[in-house]
Amino acid sequence: MKDGQARFGADTGLHVAILMDGNGRWATARGLPRSEGHRAGLAAVRRVVRAAPEIGISTLTLYAFSSHNWERPASEVASLFRLLEEYFCDVTDCHEGGVRIQVIGRRDRIPPSLATAIEYAEQATRPGRRLELRIAIDYSSREAILRAATCPRPGRETSEEEFARRLALATHGGPATPDIDLLIRTGGEQRLSDFMLWEIAYAELLFVPCMWPEFGLADLEAAMDDYLGRERRFGRVPEIAAS
Ligand code: FPP
Repeated sequence: MKDGQARFGADTGLHVAILMDGNGRWATARGLPRSEGHRAGLAAVRRVVRAAPEIGISTLTLYAFSSHNWERPASEVASLFRLLEEYFCDVTDCHEGGVRIQVIGRRDRIPPSLATAIEYAEQATRPGRRLELRIAIDYSSREAILRAATCPRPGRETSEEEFARRLALATHGGPATPDIDLLIRTGGEQRLSDFMLWEIAYAELLFVPCMWPEFGLADLEAAMDDYLGRERRFGRVPEIAAS
């Protein structure tokens, strides 16, 4: 980890978001049920969460269950929820590592026992200051944007900042989070799947072929190297962006 700190700096303060794709294919290729792919995916989550603050990531947003994933077989949905509940029921690692958990997305359709475990995990990790870990469950970016856009006073203009605050309220009931700097999608597909559509306005996008259960520290460091080698211009010309 010292290597990572030296290379990336411990205080880069980046917001990285990950679409953790490829669990099912990883399992199927090994003759395992898809639920085993999700379990292996959870091990990858633990690896990445442990490494993130050491290499300059201060906010990490993970897409664990999209609102479109309800259309998967009920048995797969149930096993994913059990896995998530298991994670939220024991957050000792997060608590000790200074990781603060914040779940984003709808809470009115998930099993009540999962909602209770989420509340417990959020409370138990509240003092965490090294990493803000945001986990998206029953999340749809379009739905969140629609809710935020339902203006209490029609006809009144709004600013980006005010809209971002309303979007955060609609997504998790808390304050606005910083824009995403780097969005990673594993599993070889190159799409955004209704994830963080407002927050990625100026994000760098990285699509990697490896399946999520195989994603490790070396892949995270390679992603950071790739990101740090890019020039972010935010629409400006190179000389002005550099100054
Ligand atoms: C997409 O891969 C992955 C998911 C729908 C679930 C991701 C969830 C986890 C990795 C567990 C996360 C746990 C925490 C605590 C964040 P897929 O199954 O659609 O893959 P496929 O495209 O190969 O079928």
